[in-house]
Amino acid sequence: MNPDRLEIVVVSGRELLPHLETIARLRISVFRAFPYLYDGDMAYERRYLSTYMDKPEAMTVLVLDGGKAVGASTALPLTDETDEVKRPFLDRGIPPEEVFYFGESVLEPAYRGLGLGVRFFEEREKFARLKAGALREDRPWRLLAFCAVDRPADHPMRPEDYVPLDRFWQNRGFKKIPDMQTTFSWKDIGDSEETKKSMTFWLRELDL
Ligand SMILES: CC(C)(COP(=O)(O)OP(=O)(O)OC[C@H]1O[C@@H](n2cnc3c(N)ncnc32)[C@H](O)[C@@H]1OP(=O)(O)O)[C@@H](O)C(=O)NCCC(=O)NCCS
Repeated sequence: MNPDRLEIVVVSGRELLPHLETIARLRISVFRAFPYLYDGDMAYERRYLSTYMDKPEAMTVLVLDGGKAVGASTALPLTDETDEVKRPFLDRGIPPEEVFYFGESVLEPAYRGLGLGVRFFEEREKFARLKAGALREDRPWRLLAFCAVDRPADHPMRPEDYVPLDRFWQNRGFKKIPDMQTTFSWKDIGDSEETKKSMTFWLRELDL
């Protein structure tokens, strides 16, 4: 792998289509690891990722190596998200129209530690600021948000050398809001049924 060959591109709508299968497979393989332990399937992945093609203000940052996606990071207006994601904001009196929501970041292991994770945050924030300035003057986004899965510190699948991403997210200016939570359901590796996972939100003001 040659870092000089890597390209970072921001795509929206149908531009994501040629990369959809690769990103779906990447998500499944990356999210098998702790703390996600996600036993993914391609049918769900295609449905999930198609949201990022269908919503005009959704975006994906891609890392391409020789044209092939080796990393991806997604974001979209909170208004385009599911009720599970919107509810904690509504409960706190935060209008979903004021929030730009970060989905996930996934990177093939060989490409980690090069600053691409930091870049994912920078590109998504830049996009939010540009869009907010150019297209949404009437009601710009004022908050950036994402949520992360909660797993107990003594979880049996937690690797000895696991380093939580909390510090990384704090360094990006986000603050964990411990009592702002929702649940997502997915099937853990080794389980036969989906189970609910507690997810906690992280927020940051978007200074325009
Ligand atoms: C999260 C992820 C995208 C980060 O990607 P990355 O390109 O390796 O991250 P970066 O190189 O930008 O480094 C991020 C931070 O970790 C630090 N870091 C990178 N590699 C490190 C290493 N081997 N050991 C210790 N710290 C390291 C960097 O110094 C940086 O710190 P900073 O916050 O002080 O700037 C990647 O690890 C990943 O795909 N993880 C699995 C999926 C996941 O957990 N996604 C996030 C939630 S959806």
